[in-house]
Amino acid sequence: MAHLEIRNLTHRFGGLEALTDINLSLERGEIAGLIGPNGAGKTTVFNLVSGFYVPTGGDIILDGRRINAKKPHEIAAMKVGRTFQNIRLWNEMTVLDNIRIAQHYRLGYNAADVFFHTRRFREREAEITGSSRELLELFNLSSLAEEYPKNLPYGVQRRVEIARALSLKPDLLMLDEPAAGLSTADITELIRYIRWIHEKFHLTIWMIEHQMEVIMSLCRRITVLDFGREIARGSPDEIRANPEVIKAYLGDGAI
Ligand SMILES: Nc1ncnc2c1ncn2[C@@H]1O[C@H](COP(=O)(O)OP(=O)(O)O)[C@@H](O)[C@H]1O
Ligand SMILES: [Mg+2]
Repeated sequence: MAHLEIRNLTHRFGGLEALTDINLSLERGEIAGLIGPNGAGKTTVFNLVSGFYVPTGGDIILDGRRINAKKPHEIAAMKVGRTFQNIRLWNEMTVLDNIRIAQHYRLGYNAADVFFHTRRFREREAEITGSSRELLELFNLSSLAEEYPKNLPYGVQRRVEIARALSLKPDLLMLDEPAAGLSTADITELIRYIRWIHEKFHLTIWMIEHQMEVIMSLCRRITVLDFGREIARGSPDEIRANPEVIKAYLGDGAI
């Protein structure tokens, strides 16, 4: 069974048809890419899959279950993690707390637990802090646990955001332009990180990326969108040589 399957997905924003009849599937454990010029509809696909929008048409099927109308927290609970094109960390909280708070959703509290600081609450708080510190350790972020994200270099903020997504123990991780704004050195490191994450956590990874080096070195299969429609799919070599893709990117200089 496909890990994720998208059938005839269509999405309209008022009068704008942002996506038209997209069909796509992810195999469990693969790293797949979603590319296309700006405005092609890539982020909209991620927002639909992660529950931020309800699709106008078509079906989104995760592990064999239709998830069209599910809310973001329900989809997160179904082991789908994501990062955002514009980093969305809580800047008023420390790095450690950014990771801790994400896990409150996973463990599920009720108001009484929080109010009375029940034993269950205290035990879970300790568990969350412990697993958050472990994650920071894994990501070489331990020394930055008490820092505020806004004071950290961009590449480090990206790493914190990816660590936060992993704290919810996803088995599908969606990365929306993880290399955006990174230096060449940071990009090389990001590629290593993503490979390492993939092997260590046995994830399916789906990434949107403009940096062709990242996409071409990590993804086995790539789908290309343009103006909300699929224009190509295939291996990195097939995509590089595809005339439709070259045409879509002409003037954009990305390929
Ligand atoms: N919330 C929204 N409301 C209205 N239009 C939107 C919204 N989100 C995206 N769009 C439009 O949908 C199209 C696809 O956007 P997006 O998915 O962000 O593209 P990409 O990520 O490929 O650059 C664009 O024309 C964009 O302006
Ligand atoms: Mg986008």
